This record gives sequence, structure tokens and C-alpha cells, in this order.
Amino acid sequence: MEPEKLLRKWVVSLMAVLLVLGLWGGVRAAPQVPCYFIFGDSLVDNGNNNQLASLARANYFPYGIDFPGGATGRFSNGKTTVDVVAQLLGFDRYIPPYSTTRGRDILTGVNYASAAAGIREETGQQLGARISFSGQVQNYRRTVSQVVQILGNQTQAANYLRKCIYSIGLGSNDYLNNYFMPAFYSSSRQYTPEQFTDILIQQYSQQIRSLYNYGARKMALFGLGPIGCSPNEIAQNSRDGRTCVERINSANRLFNDRLKSLVDQFNRQLTDAKLIYINTYGMFQDILSSPSSFGFRVTNAGCCGVGRNNGQITCLPGQRPCPNRREYLFWDAFHPTESGNSIVGRRAYSAQSSSDAYPIDIRRLAQS
Ligand SMILES: *[C@@H]1O[C@H](CO)[C@@H](O)[C@H](O)[C@H]1NC(C)=O
Repeated sequence: MEPEKLLRKWVVSLMAVLLVLGLWGGVRAAPQVPCYFIFGDSLVDNGNNNQLASLARANYFPYGIDFPGGATGRFSNGKTTVDVVAQLLGFDRYIPPYSTTRGRDILTGVNYASAAAGIREETGQQLGARISFSGQVQNYRRTVSQVVQILGNQTQAANYLRKCIYSIGLGSNDYLNNYFMPAFYSSSRQYTPEQFTDILIQQYSQQIRSLYNYGARKMALFGLGPIGCSPNEIAQNSRDGRTCVERINSANRLFNDRLKSLVDQFNRQLTDAKLIYINTYGMFQDILSSPSSFGFRVTNAGCCGVGRNNGQITCLPGQRPCPNRREYLFWDAFHPTESGNSIVGRRAYSAQSSSDAYPIDIRRLAQS
């Protein structure tokens, strides 16, 4: 063979070997951002309530039936929305819960979410212990002091944290386990839905600003889904067992409208920060108006649960869930299946419709 041809052959083989090594040799791309911090309620809690005296716990079978780690405390059969986002951001593991995370593990981010938690302190109290949003922000401040210690000084920590993504999604329980639960809470007798929503947004904005003061710069605020379409609300308040409860949905839309305005307001005031709004409500509307195009057969009943629409009592320990989980939007009375969470997580990360994320999606937030 001519030397030139031989050389070319060698180069081609070498490139093939490198390609194989790259694909199968455990070479992992670094995540798009150094860390991902998560604040929220049962929709994204991944174990913080396991050690609490609370009725809002999910660390028992069949929760996690489709999750590699089993029943971790996630309120789903599999992944939550933030698990999906973490994967899309390129993390090679899920963001660990605050309750069990120590040492340098905090550097890739922490999940502070707690089931039954709300923006208001008293929200969810009939279910027992929980970490309210302000408690989660307090825990985050503890993490920041640890980050300062690990990285050496405040400047280093600030430079690190400003590249990270922050997911924030609360408010569902302030309606579900507060305003629309008059037997336990007086808020609906004291305030109109507009007044109550304004109070929520006011408190929310104070805590979000506190996150900013402690280094958060790239924040994704998840809006509320149509809670009036959850199997629990349909079981309790829908005559035909399928029509969503408009009184609750309209309060959720009010909250979302105010939240989107808050994003605009912060983006004007905090010029070195970027906040985005995720339109969870719109994504659910898409699914509910055309379930089969998303692969769903059942959207008004839980896969696991008790009573009308499998929505009157939540999925009980040891209970046998539906076998065709992929075809259900809801896993239990309140929480979506992994299939439902995957749709929201994927569209939050990479918008499929211009209304999914405002003004940009998480993928572009990470790049910015
Ligand atoms: C922080 O640490 C970095 C790197 O060790 C150093 O260059 C910088 O001067 C320190 N800044 C302050 C304010 O101490």
C-alpha cells in the first residue's frame, strides 16, 4: 500500500476507536450548569418528608414502582418533573434531598421540596409536619454558607451560584390545603380569591428576593396546574365525574397571571438576574383536550387510589396500582404519573409551544 493510503487508513481507524470510546467508554459530557436547586411541594419532593411526622409521605410501595430506587418519597410511580429536567440538563444523577445531603454533594444542587408545604406558613398543617417555602429558603441559606466554606470565600461562591438553575414551584397547597379547605382554614372567609392570591404573590416575591440575595440568578418559576382537574377535586365536586372544578381552576389561573407579571417585574428590577415562568396549566390543557395524542386513555382518575375516580383516598401502602400506568395522566388523587411529569419536564426544558415558557425555556436559561 502506498504510504499515503496507509496513513489515511490509520487515521480512519483511530477516529473510529475514539468514537467508540466516546460513546461507550463512560465519557460523559459535563452538565450544562454546575448546579440545580429545587424548591417546592409534593410534586417534586424526593424524600424530605420521609423523616417528618406527616400524613403527606410517599416512602412506601407502590409509590416508586417504576423508579430504579423504589419508594424514595417521590409522589409518583416514577420520575418527577425536576428529575426529568435534571436529566435534560445533563446531570448524571438526580438532585438529592436536603434531608440526607452532606459535604461536597451539595455542589451539584439540593432539593428542598416538602410535601404539603405552601407559600403561607399555616398551609398544610392539618397533614402534620412540613417545610414551608420560607423554611426551604432558610435551609438554602445554610447550604450557601457551606458552599462558601467549600469554595473558599463569598466571591467564589457567588460566581459559582449565579450559573446555577433554581426551580421554584409552590402555591398548589395554598389553595388545596388552605383556601379551598374551609373546615380547617378561615382564609376563604377572610379574603376573596383575588385578595388571597395577592397575599400569596406578595409573600412569594419576598422569599424569591431572599433567594436572589443569597446568589440565585437563573430562576424558573413553575405555575400551577389546573388543580380543579385532579381526580380528588373531580371525585368531590364534579357531578358527572369528569368535568373539572372551575371555581378552583379560575383561582389557579389568577395565581398564574400574577406570577407571570412577577417574572416581568423581577426581570426589570434585578438586571443581573433572569427569571422565567413555566406554563404548567397550558400543558395540562393541551393534554386534557387531546389525551390520546399524548398516549393517555384516562385523565380523570388516579392509577392508584380509593373511591370515586380513585380520588377520594390517596394510594394506600401495599395497594395494587393499575397495570397500564403509561395510559394514566394521574398516578394518585393529586399527582401525575411519570408520563405526565415527563411531558411537563420536557416542555419546561425545551418549549414545544410558544406559550410553554416565558420569556425563554430552561434550556436557553441555562445557556444565557
Ligand atoms: C477569594 O478567593 C480567590 C481564590 O482563592 C482569590 O483570588 C480572591 O482574592 C478571594 N477574594 C476575597 C475577597 O478574599
